[in-house]
Amino acid sequence: MPNYPKMSAHNINKPTIKQRLIAGAEQLERAGIENPRMEARMLGALAINAGPETVVGESDREMTIEENEIFVSSLRRRCNHEPMAYITGLREFWSLAFKVTPATLIPRPDSETLIEGVLAQIDDKSGAIRILDLGTGSGCLLLALLSELGNARGVGVDASIDALEVAKLNANNLGLSGRAEFINADWNSPEFIETLGEKFDLVISNPPYISNSELQQLDITVSAHEPMSALDGGADGLDSYRAIVGILDKLLNDDGVAAFEVGFTQGETVALMLSQSAMQVIEIREDLSGIGRAVLARKIKS
Ligand SMILES: C[S@@+](CC[C@H](N)C(=O)[O-])C[C@H]1O[C@@H](n2cnc3c(N)ncnc32)[C@H](O)[C@@H]1O
Repeated sequence: MPNYPKMSAHNINKPTIKQRLIAGAEQLERAGIENPRMEARMLGALAINAGPETVVGESDREMTIEENEIFVSSLRRRCNHEPMAYITGLREFWSLAFKVTPATLIPRPDSETLIEGVLAQIDDKSGAIRILDLGTGSGCLLLALLSELGNARGVGVDASIDALEVAKLNANNLGLSGRAEFINADWNSPEFIETLGEKFDLVISNPPYISNSELQQLDITVSAHEPMSALDGGADGLDSYRAIVGILDKLLNDDGVAAFEVGFTQGETVALMLSQSAMQVIEIREDLSGIGRAVLARKIKS
């Protein structure tokens, strides 16, 4: 419950923003949230519809009833370990603002490794490249690439209609909807290749890759709130790679490049899978912590 001071004839003031932030931070700390003061400021900012700096500047004024309602409800969600990005509805990726909802995975900074790897393979950044993004979610990978490649066009595929709605909105918000198309389809379906009806120069994917045993150990912020269809990669975490590598030949033009994000133990295995198909591995690209995060491969001419 909100920590309002008791009302009396002599005390009819609503609590100030500062008082609410202090009480909120205490509540977050009790719920085991790291950085409770910073997060209370973020939720306060959301409630008064301002930036976190403004919250501090306005901290001596009273919080309105409407603002307090928003603060209390978002505080409750965060104490329930819902990710902050779902509460604010926004996450930055590749320096672009993406809307996110519980239907979409929250874009991770690690996924920028895939974007860097792909861009390093493209000599002519103004070329009319065709990109296919398998499991587009919020659209972050496809839209980040389209933002860098001015004449590229892309198709984002997802089995989740709700995720695709978010991806479309992000394409609109970023002024990229003219070059991005979104298709609701399942890459395991026998009609998948037919549904796409074309080949691509670039196929990218950050598929679900958490193994069943790792799923049990995920932080509650992820396991209880992010979509299981974006996480569950089957018994060994590799189901989606097997399925996509199996059809890659039909998706890529000759000389086309495929780029997969991988889990931190999966780089070598996915690289081996690719080299056993019609692909030549280019690199296993490491993230800033030195962990293999993206596997890139080129299709050998048929
Ligand atoms: C790990 S998320 C990646 C989302 C986004 N590309 C990103 O990097 O943040 C994987 C996405 O693949 C989608 N997906 C899972 N299995 C699929 C399938 N068989 N066919 C199409 N999409 C699938 C999920 O709905 C989810 O949006």
